[in-house]
Amino acid sequence: MHAKSSGPDGHTFERQITGIREGSTRFPRYDAAVLGFEGYWYPVMWSRKLRSKPVALQLFGRDIMFIREHGKAYALENRCPHRGVPLSLGKREFAGTWTCRYHGWTFDVKSGVLVAALTDGPDSPICGKASVRTYALKERLGLIWLYNGTGEPPPLETHLPQEFFHPEATIVGRITDRRGDWRYAAENGFDEGHAKYLHRNAAMMFFLLMPGYSRVNVEPDDEAPWVTRKVQSVEFESEYPGLGKWPRRAFWKRKRRGARVSIRMPGLLRV
Ligand code: FES
Repeated sequence: MHAKSSGPDGHTFERQITGIREGSTRFPRYDAAVLGFEGYWYPVMWSRKLRSKPVALQLFGRDIMFIREHGKAYALENRCPHRGVPLSLGKREFAGTWTCRYHGWTFDVKSGVLVAALTDGPDSPICGKASVRTYALKERLGLIWLYNGTGEPPPLETHLPQEFFHPEATIVGRITDRRGDWRYAAENGFDEGHAKYLHRNAAMMFFLLMPGYSRVNVEPDDEAPWVTRKVQSVEFESEYPGLGKWPRRAFWKRKRRGARVSIRMPGLLRV
């Protein structure tokens, strides 16, 4: 199914929606979150990757430009309201502003308001009447966090997993672009069964015996707001009627218990 959904700023985005989403009504808010959930802070890039050059990203179906000036990071819609040119192609002509490459419209990086239209003269009447959207942004823990929403954002700390603040925590990671629906990636991380089959013969499992299956309950974790898979029982070898035993044992493998996996809004996974 090829669906269209409208962003809050009126842009229309097209997105391929396939498989189990079609016709699903069990979780309408989740099904509608094609471009992510609004009202949350998201980690979007490493702070160290944003230097003097702008970085253009597509997030939540929108084109967003990140720039750094005097050590402070800013995020603006990456589309000039004059003729639609990506602002990330522009340059800094004056402190605290960013200028579009095409006709020189110049925007305040903090408010997004047009402060000069260079090729229209210093007294251009368009000044103050046009603007680009700006985004709330914070830098914590070596990451740039962007607020996907409008209005006053909640404190960033309310959305940061407490594990990040553990005195012995080390924060490393890999940020990559993947084509596809973000929800399948989130669900794959929380999916109980696939590792027991798909990853059974992975190199890292050479000395480990995966269970054949587990019985789990999915329930709220003691540490809200996580939702956790709680393992009730684990079976390493079972008789399948008319088929035989599975999985087949290998004498060099020792049993491996499943991991405790939790998920929380807006798509964070904890293993
Ligand atoms: Fe940006 Fe004209 S398109 S100034």
